[in-house]
Amino acid sequence: AGLVVAMDGPSGSGKSSASRGVARALRLRYLDTGAMYRAMTWWMLEQGVDVADPAAVAARCGEPEIISGTDPDGPTIRVGSTDVAGPIRTSEVTGSVSAVAAVPEVRTRLVALQREIIGTGGIVVEGRDIGTVVWPEAAVKIYLTASAEARALRRTAELSGTTVEAQQAAMARRDTLDSTRKADPLSMADGAIELDTTPLTLQEVIDAVLSVVAR
Ligand code: ADP
Ligand code: CDP
Repeated sequence: AGLVVAMDGPSGSGKSSASRGVARALRLRYLDTGAMYRAMTWWMLEQGVDVADPAAVAARCGEPEIISGTDPDGPTIRVGSTDVAGPIRTSEVTGSVSAVAAVPEVRTRLVALQREIIGTGGIVVEGRDIGTVVWPEAAVKIYLTASAEARALRRTAELSGTTVEAQQAAMARRDTLDSTRKADPLSMADGAIELDTTPLTLQEVIDAVLSVVAR
């Protein structure tokens, strides 16, 4: 079977950019599982489902058709025929995604979809639970971290109309929800290699992951 690289870690640790860079360098596919949880959340909000009500979310989570493109040069995410790449990045979705992702029925459905996409491998997969739950047999498992300040600074640089303080507070809230939920909490997988990206450039992170793959 082809190589599977699992990239986990908190928000702003550099998972998306590093994963895409590694996939490009190794000519592998790339899967952003966070985008799938965001797409599910976007659809719930669009449908008027109360995302604070786990039973309501569980009852509807089988409905949306979530389709992920895996080209690292141009990853895509659709719900049915709707391109949701833009809408899934709004602060409304970001503020609700951890509540939706904590619902076990949502995870069961999306993890099954993720395993189908991974299939026979040849892919870099980023998320919170790839090395622990989705694909524990991954040949390479990386756990990216960075200081809370560095992560908030990176996010702030990407967005307009926000401050580092507001970003740091929003990220801290999401980190707590993601690492304390009962279903598949964010944690370092057995056998994972931890990489603190705080002092590193993106290229240095990519090179560090490539050297783990090569050994
Ligand atoms: P995640 O997927 O973990 O949330 P991203 O890959 O989206 O993180 O990175 C968040 C932001 O930080 C992006 O704007 C990205 O370009 C930048 N970034 C990623 N890695 C580094 C790094 N090592 N040094 C500086 N900036 C980085
Ligand atoms: O935008 P950011 O990089 O911070 O996060 P993301 O990767 O887009 O993921 C958004 C949210 O989806 C996370 O905060 C988690 O609540 C959830 N998620 C998850 O539960 N499991 C995954 N494998 C990926 C994301």
